[in-house]
Amino acid sequence: MSAEISRRSFLKLGTGTVATGAVAAVAPRVAEAKPTDTSRTTLPYPRKHVGSASHLARPLAFSYPDAASPCLAIKTGAAVPGGVGPERDIVAYSTQCTHMGCPLAYDADTRTFKCGCHFSMFDAEKEGQMICGQATEDLPRITLEYDHKTGRITAVGVDGLIYGRQANVL
Ligand code: FES
Repeated sequence: MSAEISRRSFLKLGTGTVATGAVAAVAPRVAEAKPTDTSRTTLPYPRKHVGSASHLARPLAFSYPDAASPCLAIKTGAAVPGGVGPERDIVAYSTQCTHMGCPLAYDADTRTFKCGCHFSMFDAEKEGQMICGQATEDLPRITLEYDHKTGRITAVGVDGLIYGRQANVL
């Protein structure tokens, strides 16, 4: 047997040494890693002041949960499912159509959101339910909180997926 070390043996020896070194270098980091909450699949929603109930004589435009997501808060004039405020008639929705993301226009006479691109319509009094058109999803509804002492309205979440997103909070 040759005392000379073969190239293959040298490489095997070298790889083993490097691997051992790598494990030793990583091991302390694994021990330091903090446990993560694996039950959570989405990021938390921010809280955002939208306005006051007294300012809702006309629809109020705002963005939520970030600047790239236009929304509209409206006072329908009669209690509606999910409505907040003294009359439980204040609701808010994303104003991006769920079909292809076109901007929606609110029609106060019919209390519907209308899309000019392919004519989808959504019912503001029935939690954004799709009425007709090319869209197949209801309009995402912004979850609101109402402070009875101050009249402040705060956006705290979104019920439904905003058009074009895989998650509402990016
Ligand atoms: S983008 Fe609104 S119906 Fe097509």
